[in-house]
Amino acid sequence: MERTSAGWPDLQQRRVLLAVCGGVAAYKAAEFCRLLVRCGAQVQVAMTAAAQHFVGSATFAALSGRAVATELFDPVQEAQIGHIRLADAAELLVVAPATADVLAKLALGLAGDVVTTAYLAFDGPVLLAPAMNVKMWGHPATQQAMQRLRERGHRVVGPESGELACGHVGAGRMSEPETLLDAV
Ligand SMILES: Cc1cc2nc3c(=O)[nH]c(=O)nc-3n(C[C@H](O)[C@H](O)[C@H](O)COP(=O)(O)O)c2cc1C
Repeated sequence: MERTSAGWPDLQQRRVLLAVCGGVAAYKAAEFCRLLVRCGAQVQVAMTAAAQHFVGSATFAALSGRAVATELFDPVQEAQIGHIRLADAAELLVVAPATADVLAKLALGLAGDVVTTAYLAFDGPVLLAPAMNVKMWGHPATQQAMQRLRERGHRVVGPESGELACGHVGAGRMSEPETLLDAV
């Protein structure tokens, strides 16, 4: 990875689709978005409906300098088949935080919203940053989904162990934005 004189990875003109899902760690995705932009990347953010309960799309729009894709059936975005354009325009798809719900959907190929549909329409490298309660992470349903996603060649970063937002201690914390940046 090329680095700028300031020590940041050089991501000039690299096109990243950042899919934000509905977990507490969505606030860390905002910082990750800021770091990507600081490194020169062109960041397009897509959010699930649940993600917007945690961080507003206006935050990501301001950080990325682009309108955030939130709707599959958006009269403006869908006039240009927005989810396909999102996928076609990206070189890398990062899902952060990746919820148990979205991981299960991606593993199965369900495509009911803008994030999961863009995932199916994208054939480039995928980086997943799971974040959830320790028991949700350890559940066989989640672990089987992860096995499928790893077998598909996707890169998985985290989750890390520690104190979780729900008060439990264990694996479930989303990796820090700097760690995700290194993986990018
Ligand atoms: C306060 C709160 C925190 C949550 N945190 C997480 C989380 O960290 N990880 C997760 O997988 N689900 C979490 N959930 C559950 C998801 O928000 C829920 O499964 C939602 O349907 C996920 O939607 P999405 O996958 O489309 O973003 C949380 C729910 C609430 C109410």
